Amino acid sequence: MFTKINQSHISSFQNIVGKEFVLFDKDSLDKYSSDETEDLKFLPEVVVKPNTPEQVSEVLKVCNKENIPVTPRGAGTGLSGGALPVFGGVILSMERFNHILEIDERNLQATVEPGVITQVFQEAVIEKGLFYPPDPSSKGSCFLGGNLAESAGGPRAVKYGVTKEYVLNLEMVLPTGEIIWTGANVLKNSTGYNLTQLIVGSEGTLGVITKIVFKLLPYPKKNVVMLVPFFSAEKACEAVSAVFRAGVVPSAMEFMERDAIDWALKFVSGITISIKKEIQAHLLVEVDGNDIDVMMKDVERLTEVFEKFESDEILFADTEEQKQNLWRLRRNVAEAVKSHSVYKEEDTVVPRAELPKLLAGVKKIGKKYGFQSICYGHAGDGNLHVNIIKQEMPDEKWNTEIPKAIREIFTLCKELKGTISGEHGIGWVQKNYMDIAFHPKAIELQKEIKKLFDPNGIMNPGKMFV
Ligand code: LAC
Ligand code: ZN
Repeated sequence: MFTKINQSHISSFQNIVGKEFVLFDKDSLDKYSSDETEDLKFLPEVVVKPNTPEQVSEVLKVCNKENIPVTPRGAGTGLSGGALPVFGGVILSMERFNHILEIDERNLQATVEPGVITQVFQEAVIEKGLFYPPDPSSKGSCFLGGNLAESAGGPRAVKYGVTKEYVLNLEMVLPTGEIIWTGANVLKNSTGYNLTQLIVGSEGTLGVITKIVFKLLPYPKKNVVMLVPFFSAEKACEAVSAVFRAGVVPSAMEFMERDAIDWALKFVSGITISIKKEIQAHLLVEVDGNDIDVMMKDVERLTEVFEKFESDEILFADTEEQKQNLWRLRRNVAEAVKSHSVYKEEDTVVPRAELPKLLAGVKKIGKKYGFQSICYGHAGDGNLHVNIIKQEMPDEKWNTEIPKAIREIFTLCKELKGTISGEHGIGWVQKNYMDIAFHPKAIELQKEIKKLFDPNGIMNPGKMFV
């Protein structure tokens, strides 16, 4: 068991980071007790806010020696409970690591601290004509460090890949206090095991990221955004893989079933779209590039494909404002659902051509267990967010039956050659399902790796594994 924090621990932390950056008053503890995951809440015993790798190292050394659990935290926008301090202890808030250290225009790279907000970074590189594509829905508030810890994605991943595709090198602090670099600032690297990618998605269970080297791309100057209505949700899903077979790679290909767009329209102010009663789903599709003629050829091919799947009249966003509105709508689906009811969000992912089977399966499981689900997400990546809505469901059923239903959904993902999280991570809420994703030996290997980095098990305990 872990050691409870006492006055002498507090004094040590104060000596390391300064008095004002060690918080233990009730309001602060409360503020750091939850992230965006469901309605979960766990109080930390203390919040520590370092601002150098050396300070992180000193804090971790104390915790390692004293057997105090440490939960690293970015902006707290995670959806799998990765930042929840489930055993109390220290919340290691990375919010003061908020500097873009270098944008290297010669090499199209940037070095940043993990507490930089994703969108702030994106805008800073756009100023230099450069592009950092990963764009989780929370990009206006989430931190790059959290994006890395959870291997976050977003709509553009379908063309540009997820966060991990942009990481070249990481500075990290191990729980034993050493400060190491995991790789090199190069685009090719066949030197040793890929420690960088081991840390990406490790959810703060192996150490603390303190610097990130990203690769960047040239910024594509133009885009076309369209909202495509379908009379059948399954047909919309079938259209997705047909698009790629027709030779087009859109820069986003998002699915929203009818309830998702209806709820988002109610939640977000200032957007009106008239949708026919018979429409069951939409695809929000974006094509980007630098040559509008080439892009319009792609759009033509796309519309031909969509027609084959009985799409209705396509809404093309004419102005920048219309484009922003359509994206605002899509990005607010999760928030809209959250404002409506207690819910559980499953981050299912399958090979994209299996999406129709996944959607049909989820609805069938919903019927069997008697729950409503709102499905939406990154259809181009086969990544469907399934929001299971509690509404009036009694707590007893919510707590005992719904986990069985989730197990069925994840088992279906596995049967379809997919897995149980595409971009939200395992964290606290999916760890009971890891046996579906992995052979026991593969789980054991991962636990052994964890022990190698973190012999005393202080880093974000209770996450990822049962
Ligand atoms: C989204 C988040 C929930 O896609 O992943 O909106
Ligand atoms: Zn998503």
